[in-house]
Amino acid sequence: MVAEKSGERIRVLIVDDVAETRENLRKLLSFDPDIEVVAMASTGEEGVELAKETRPHVVLMDINLPGMDGITATEQIVQEVPTAQIVILSVQGETGYMRRAMAAGARDYLVKPPSGDELVNAIRRAYEIGKVQAARIAPPPVAEVVRGRPGPSRRGHLITVFAPKGGVGCTTVAVNLAIALQERLGAEKKVAVFDGSLQFGDVGVMLNLQTNRSLADLAGRVDELDADLLTSVLTPHPTGVKVLLAPPHPEAAEGLRAADGEEGIGRVIRTVIGKMLEQFDYVVADTWSWVDDVSLALLDEATLVLVVLDPLIPAVKSARLFLDLARKLEYPDEKVALVINGADRRTGLRVDQIERALIPAIGHIPFDERAGFAAANRGVPLLAEERGSPVARGFARLAQAVLDRLEQMVSEEEEEDMEAEVSRRLLGRILQ
Ligand SMILES: Nc1ncnc2c1ncn2[C@@H]1O[C@H](COP(=O)(O)OP(=O)(O)O)[C@@H](O)[C@H]1O
Ligand SMILES: [Mg+2]
Repeated sequence: MVAEKSGERIRVLIVDDVAETRENLRKLLSFDPDIEVVAMASTGEEGVELAKETRPHVVLMDINLPGMDGITATEQIVQEVPTAQIVILSVQGETGYMRRAMAAGARDYLVKPPSGDELVNAIRRAYEIGKVQAARIAPPPVAEVVRGRPGPSRRGHLITVFAPKGGVGCTTVAVNLAIALQERLGAEKKVAVFDGSLQFGDVGVMLNLQTNRSLADLAGRVDELDADLLTSVLTPHPTGVKVLLAPPHPEAAEGLRAADGEEGIGRVIRTVIGKMLEQFDYVVADTWSWVDDVSLALLDEATLVLVVLDPLIPAVKSARLFLDLARKLEYPDEKVALVINGADRRTGLRVDQIERALIPAIGHIPFDERAGFAAANRGVPLLAEERGSPVARGFARLAQAVLDRLEQMVSEEEEEDMEAEVSRRLLGRILQ
């Protein structure tokens, strides 16, 4: 799911006091050409030293060590080598340690002795999360954008639509949700679509927009981005929704990347989204199907992430992996919701089966062959093909459910702020 960097081997440090265990782990890993054991340590102290020296991607950490224990060593490595991801190994029955290990900053937890597959999978997962984190740390923060929350200069909400498996209707849900929101809220509220599928964006085709304005026009100009410049790159749709299209071809997308430096694309996205949220009440972002610095910026900045899947096993499996990633990125539960597209397919899983395997769905959209055909060939949004059709009603309900969820999130946040204010005042009075 996470794009691989070319040719990089995963550097692993093993920390265990038993020589035989170290050797067994090393042997298990020697079968995988992508993994390289860079060092082995027999105490916690030595583990911390070697982590600083060798800067591994992943540390396999035993819990019971003489002297400094595995949890303390984990805490120190997290502090001193924040790029290192720690996987704890412990014997059965030490599950009480698991919480402490996770609280200390460990990424994962395996019971000894792990199978080769378990071990390699845990290492790969930890490595990928490390990469995602690095992409997140790299771009300098944009001052006025508070992650995922409306701030002083931010009036709107970003709703990012993501499908960990391609072809299941991500773009369809993004576009139709935006239109349904605009219909529901009327002309007073401003709704926009951001096509975050930078290389092969198809929002323009889906909405039949004839224009050459796109995000590519902002290459090298994000620092001068103001309301006028933003307006000049947006394309209006007859429904009232404004669209910021993806660059017209993959080279232009690369140009955008080049103009702002290798790591700069995440910053470009965050800046543009920040500006859009000053103007719009709701921005719906479409994404491509993998987590990289572009989609991660859109996921981070979102108030709400909608995960789109069809009711088939491969999509459910990918959604499961994405939910794990969301948890590891520390997104609050209420930030992530499922949308099941084609939920009525007779050959598919039932909604309740999917919800039991994952999390409750915020909406389901039925499959409509005729509307799908019109959408693909004439650029008529799915919900506009026939008024009052099941698909149109599905999107109207989804729009309402999204608005309800956002309102609930905002009021909970206000409540928390209020409670904090009350205790601050109380404390002030006690300390007077
Ligand atoms: N509920 C649906 N009913 C009928 N056709 C659909 C539905 N959802 C999506 N489609 C069609 O499926 C195709 C793929 O959808 P798309 O949104 O492009 O997927 P993704 O963005 O996930 O790759 C499009 O032709 C679209 O019109
Ligand atoms: Mg798409």
